[in-house]
Amino acid sequence: MGFAYTDLSVDRDDLRDDVLTGLAASPKSIPPKYFYDEAGCRLFEAICAQPEYVLCRTEQSLMAAHLPDIAAALGPVDCIIEPGAGDCVKVRRLLDTLHPANLVVMDIAGAPLAAAAEPLSRDYPALAVTALGMDFIHDLEAATPYLPAGRRLVYYPGSSIGNFAPDEASALLARFRQLASAQGQLLIGFDLKKDPQRLHAAYNDAAGVTAAFNLNLLARLNRELGADFDLTRFRHYAFYNPVAGRIEMHLVSLAEQDIHIAGQRVHFALGETLHTEHSYKFRGDEFSALAQIAGWTLKAAWEHDGFAVQLYG
Ligand code: AVI
Repeated sequence: MGFAYTDLSVDRDDLRDDVLTGLAASPKSIPPKYFYDEAGCRLFEAICAQPEYVLCRTEQSLMAAHLPDIAAALGPVDCIIEPGAGDCVKVRRLLDTLHPANLVVMDIAGAPLAAAAEPLSRDYPALAVTALGMDFIHDLEAATPYLPAGRRLVYYPGSSIGNFAPDEASALLARFRQLASAQGQLLIGFDLKKDPQRLHAAYNDAAGVTAAFNLNLLARLNRELGADFDLTRFRHYAFYNPVAGRIEMHLVSLAEQDIHIAGQRVHFALGETLHTEHSYKFRGDEFSALAQIAGWTLKAAWEHDGFAVQLYG
C-alpha cells in the first residue's frame, strides 16, 4: 500500500539551547533524548545485547509468549502508532498478528527512521506506512493530520516511559490518550522494580558499553557544538536509587575544570555531576495509577521476569 516519509522536525536550535540551559542549572543536566545520534543509536543496540541488560530481550520473550492473548484482548486494530520507533523491529511482531491497514512511526532521528520503515511497506504489501521525522516529545500533536480514522493502537514498548519523571510520564500518556482518540488503545512495556543489584548491573555492564553510551553524549557535544570536553576527565556513574525508584545516570567530573561550548565557558568542580538520565522502575499497580491519571483504563496486564506489558483502553 506504500510508504511516505515526512520531515516534521521544526527548524529550532534545540540541542544548543537545551544543553546551555542544562549546563547553567544546578545540578547540571542534559535531556536523555540527545543520547541518540548515529553512534548513540548503535551503542544503545549494543547495550541491548549485553548479558546484564536483559530489558529488551525479556520484553521480546514476553511478547512472543503472550501474543495470542494480547491480540485477543486488543480486538481489531486499524492503525498502529509507534512514537520513538527507531529501527522499527519490535512492531513487526504486532504487524504479523494484527494485520492493521496503517502504521505510523515517529522518531527524532528522521533519516534512520525512514531507512528502517521503508522496507516494512515491501514486507507487508497491504500496509500503508507513514514515517514522521519529529521530536514527538515536543510536537506529538503535529502527527494528528497523518493519522487515518479507525481503531488506533499507540504502541510504546521498551520502557521508554521510564526515562520521564512521573509527572512528565503522566502528561505524555495523556497526550497519547488524545492521539489515540475515543476507541483508541495503548500497549505499553515497562521495567519493573526488582533486586537493586540486578538493576545496578544492567547499567554498569562489564564490557563498558553503557559507559561508552553515556560518554558519547560529550563526544556529540564536541562534534556538533564545538565543545572541548575531555572524555577521560569524566566518569560514567549509574546507580539505583530505591527511594525514588529509579536508576540515575551521571557523568562525574574527575577534576576541577573549565570546558568551552557554543562560545561559553562552563566550570565543573571536582566531583561535580552532569546528570544525563533517569530510568524509572515501577510496580504494576504504581504504573496503572499513573496511566489512570492520564485518562486510561487498564484492560489487561502481563509480567515476565521483571518486565511488564499493560494494555489500556
Ligand atoms: C531507552 N531506555 C528505556 C533505556 C533505559 O534503560 O532507560 C536507555 C538506557 N540507558 C542506559 N542503558 C539503557
